[in-house]
Amino acid sequence: MFLRQHWYVAALSSELSEQPMSRTILGEHVVMFRDSHGTVVALADRCPHRGYPLSLGRLVEDRLVCGYHGFTFDCSGACVAVPGQERIPSKLSVRHYPLVERGCWVWIWMGHGEPDAGTLPATPWLEDATNWSVVCGAVKIDGGFSLLVDNLLDLSHETFLHHGSIGTPEVAETPIEVETDQERRVVHVYRHMNAVQCPPFYSRTTGLTGQVDRWQDIDYYPPGFYQLNSGIAPVGQPPRPDGSDEHAFHMKIFYGLTPRTEDSVWDFWALARDFCVGDGEVDLFLSKMQAGVVQEDVDALNVLQRRLGSSPEMTEVSIKIDRGGLAARRMLAEMAHA
Ligand code: FES
Ligand SMILES: [Fe+2]
Repeated sequence: MFLRQHWYVAALSSELSEQPMSRTILGEHVVMFRDSHGTVVALADRCPHRGYPLSLGRLVEDRLVCGYHGFTFDCSGACVAVPGQERIPSKLSVRHYPLVERGCWVWIWMGHGEPDAGTLPATPWLEDATNWSVVCGAVKIDGGFSLLVDNLLDLSHETFLHHGSIGTPEVAETPIEVETDQERRVVHVYRHMNAVQCPPFYSRTTGLTGQVDRWQDIDYYPPGFYQLNSGIAPVGQPPRPDGSDEHAFHMKIFYGLTPRTEDSVWDFWALARDFCVGDGEVDLFLSKMQAGVVQEDVDALNVLQRRLGSSPEMTEVSIKIDRGGLAARRMLAEMAHA
């Protein structure tokens, strides 16, 4: 069962062009493209005539022409032409999905009713190129949505799964704090590490070496948006009483978790930093590094899904590191129930 009345990331902004693109989201086939003004459009990727994917058709003057027999639809999904006759069967249309483009991401509303753009997660860091540089990517995981939630809410796995890049021993050794805000529907997981080894991911980009203070503060807004506020600073220079800490290096790592089918999920990621802003080499380094980290997660979750599928009797054991993941599961269950 999917939670439909929520915004989900549907695509990277860079993926959409006048060439229609198909993507399965919440079990539905969606075709997305840009019209001649650059506005993003999403329609059901199924021609009502005989069911051919509209994504295999062509965009002609902002109208999507089915690649099988030429039924033609405008950007609202209304059928505007059929071959061989003047009369268009009444109310012939395909479903139109609201989209909103924000920074490097395009969000979709798969629910019923008119969505409120005010309920979109705030991502100002992805939209402020003066102060933040952003790299991003997207990947499919052949594993269920809950596997990705578990993965992102418990970063102790960094020490073992990502030991070459972001995972130092202290990540797994440092206890976490978990807070749940029922009203705002957010799960916070805090991990603060003092005087720890600087991982390669940061030493190569910030110039800090040796020991640093490092923190990872997660805000998970179920179901589809996750924000990791990550930072490092020279040892012993905590934020000032007013909260300012310009001696620190900040990275915000975002994930859009978008169910694809019951047992696969889209993992959209974006990484925004407030240092080396505009430096293309750092962009390239971080982009490759983060894509590598994400791929390690993808490989692990793909294996896990296959194993779970072949051992359905398997039970779990949870320990303290799992409190964030368990809080997220509880909140998701409450939302599903509601
Ligand atoms: S299936 Fe699309 S026009 Fe026939
Ligand atoms: Fe990971």
